[in-house]
Amino acid sequence: MEVQWAGVEPLRLGPPHIAVGLIFSILLGVWPIQALEMFVGKIPFLVAVNGSTVMLPCTYSSCIGIKNLYFNWQFNDNGTMQKVCESVIASEGVVPHVSIYRDRVEFVGKNDHNNISILLWNITFEDGGYYTCFGRNPKEKGRNHSATFHLIVVDELRVVDNTLATIIASAVGGAIAALMGFMLLKNFTLYVLAKMEEKNKECLVSSSGIDNTENGLSGSKADSKATPKKK
Ligand SMILES: *[C@@H]1O[C@H](CO)[C@@H](O)[C@H](O)[C@H]1NC(C)=O
Ligand SMILES: *[C@@H]1O[C@H](CO)[C@@H](O)[C@H](O)[C@H]1NC(C)=O
Ligand SMILES: *[C@@H]1O[C@H](CO)[C@@H](O)[C@H](O)[C@H]1NC(C)=O
Ligand SMILES: *[C@@H]1O[C@H](CO)[C@@H](O)[C@H](O)[C@H]1NC(C)=O
Ligand SMILES: *[C@@H]1O[C@H](CO)[C@@H](O)[C@H](O)[C@H]1NC(C)=O
Repeated sequence: MEVQWAGVEPLRLGPPHIAVGLIFSILLGVWPIQALEMFVGKIPFLVAVNGSTVMLPCTYSSCIGIKNLYFNWQFNDNGTMQKVCESVIASEGVVPHVSIYRDRVEFVGKNDHNNISILLWNITFEDGGYYTCFGRNPKEKGRNHSATFHLIVVDELRVVDNTLATIIASAVGGAIAALMGFMLLKNFTLYVLAKMEEKNKECLVSSSGIDNTENGLSGSKADSKATPKKK
């Protein structure tokens, strides 16, 4: 009798409880759905040679959709933010007219798949620095969102030649770069997690199914009582 109980009970009780747990967490809205978010890519910096043409990447996403999304790009010139370009996107998929305030800048994103990247032609050393991609969605009561991209302008990229010394040097450099990249990624991940937690509060899916969950729980309790009676 007791052996049967131990053998049967987990089999009959286990699955409904796991299912209830799953449904419960889904109904509570654990989806990482978010409000407006700006992205400048997983690697938010670029090293480029003066005279070259570079793209400053930025895309946006929003769980609640956009309407008249205002965006701009700003360049941090010794602490003062200079507007590089700005526009308002009426709705997703519409190619906006972008006002450009800086030389050699072209809007190439065209809002294609929420792409608001810009191209910087023939960069000079003065172009090096921090560029912020900024967005504000009126649907969110004017909350600001931004992401920053670092452009580093150098006069030449290190060319790997045949000598062992440079190979070792670049290997060490690569390891340091990888470590820096990892730390950046780690900080970025922590930042995103913190943001997600914040966003989950404002972008929750309503949990109208709690009643169903309670029904499910009482249902499985009934099962567990029924099981010993049969034996
Ligand atoms: C880049 O800068 C270096 C040093 O100022 C200069 O000699 C070189 O001509 C520049 N290259 C371009 C493509 O402007
Ligand atoms: C930025 O600041 C540095 C040092 O404070 C100064 O040498 C440089 O001229 C400044 N650049 C501009 C564009 O104001
Ligand atoms: C970039 O430089 C090239 C070659 O010097 C020139 O033909 C081109 O017009 C420049 N583009 C812009 C946007 O300044
Ligand atoms: C954004 O558009 C540019 C230009 O068309 C393209 O090179 C880039 O890959 C796009 N970025 C994304 C994330 O789609
Ligand atoms: C958003 O940014 C604008 C400047 O672009 C500022 O005036 C406004 O106070 C900011 N709003 C919030 C909620 O931070």
